[in-house]
Amino acid sequence: MQTSALGLGCMGMSDLYGPADENESIATIHAALDAGVTLLDTGDFYGMGHNEMLIAKALEGRERPQISVKFGGLRGPDGAWLGYDGRPIAVRNFVAYSLRRLRTDHIDVYRIARVDPEVPIEETVGAIADLVREGYVRHIGLSEVGAETIRRAHAVHPVSDLQIEYSLMSRGIEEEILPACRELGIGVTAYGVLSRGLLSGHWLPERELGAGDFRAHSPRFAGTNLERNLALVEALRTIADGKGVTVAQLAIAWVLGRGDDIVPLIGARRRDRLQEALGALDVSLTEADLAAIEAAVPAGSAAGDRYAPAQMAHLDSER
Ligand SMILES: NC(=O)c1ccc[n+]([C@@H]2O[C@H](COP(=O)([O-])OP(=O)(O)OC[C@H]3O[C@@H](n4cnc5c(N)ncnc54)[C@H](OP(=O)(O)O)[C@@H]3O)[C@@H](O)[C@H]2O)c1
Repeated sequence: MQTSALGLGCMGMSDLYGPADENESIATIHAALDAGVTLLDTGDFYGMGHNEMLIAKALEGRERPQISVKFGGLRGPDGAWLGYDGRPIAVRNFVAYSLRRLRTDHIDVYRIARVDPEVPIEETVGAIADLVREGYVRHIGLSEVGAETIRRAHAVHPVSDLQIEYSLMSRGIEEEILPACRELGIGVTAYGVLSRGLLSGHWLPERELGAGDFRAHSPRFAGTNLERNLALVEALRTIADGKGVTVAQLAIAWVLGRGDDIVPLIGARRRDRLQEALGALDVSLTEADLAAIEAAVPAGSAAGDRYAPAQMAHLDSER
């Protein structure tokens, strides 16, 4: 599967990052498509279907881009997270609803958001492979899984890409997971490239976070961890200022530079943020820049885990 160098992640337009303005979200999707972005990422559980319906509305009368959908996350009416369901019968049910909400006859990449501990990955991927044969899905993806699960899934049906957190502050994939993807010819769609806003250069420690905001429960945004992490960002700002770019552009450009097989998903939900992010495509990093960035934010220097303990337990990629 070929995509634009950057994809647009639509999650924050419906969920997890506090209130979003629907008109601005749609304008942001339009601006991304007009700028040549060909990949939109969503999940059926982002706002319990809201994100897929928002994308369908934004795409009315437009040429359809590639759409990547995650499924499997179970939510309660109050938005609570109830676990994951990867049973083949559930996969068929999830896709039926997603196709209807997205107003499309196929999904470009389909993946379970987290491995269901009760269901072998072979069964979940086997159910998506049936959907590929039936024409409802074009490509199979994975999300937040480790090298062994990647190999098991790929043995059932070729996997197109792994979606996983990757940024200057989250470099866990470099040792084992990225080499496994490269060996098997699997691309990476990197999320959290701005560490959910922490690495953007815009984060203010006094920002108020509602209970539904992911960052209210994220160890990296808590107390002294936040102070230490923002000190890393200030070290990056010195480098960014020296190059006449923004911190966000430097952070995105760093991920872009890690390989043509890595596509950062940008979590912009406003046009100004999107424009800033797209500016990263014009940033070239010299060997000296890379060394300075590495010194400013050495691998493993982020304070705090990337998820709270209950969510870490769902990450096959962290075993
Ligand atoms: N597979 C998975 O498990 C998984 C998990 C999480 C996300 N994802 C996908 O990956 C996408 C991106 O993830 P993310 O939203 O966490 O990534 P992110 O890009 O690290 O964070 C987005 C946050 O950064 C802030 N930001 C500040 N400046 C920005 C700029 N110039 N461009 C973009 N954002 C800027 C946004 O600001 P504001 O607060 O001002 O809007 C937003 O709160 C999601 O939309 C979703 O599709 C996948």
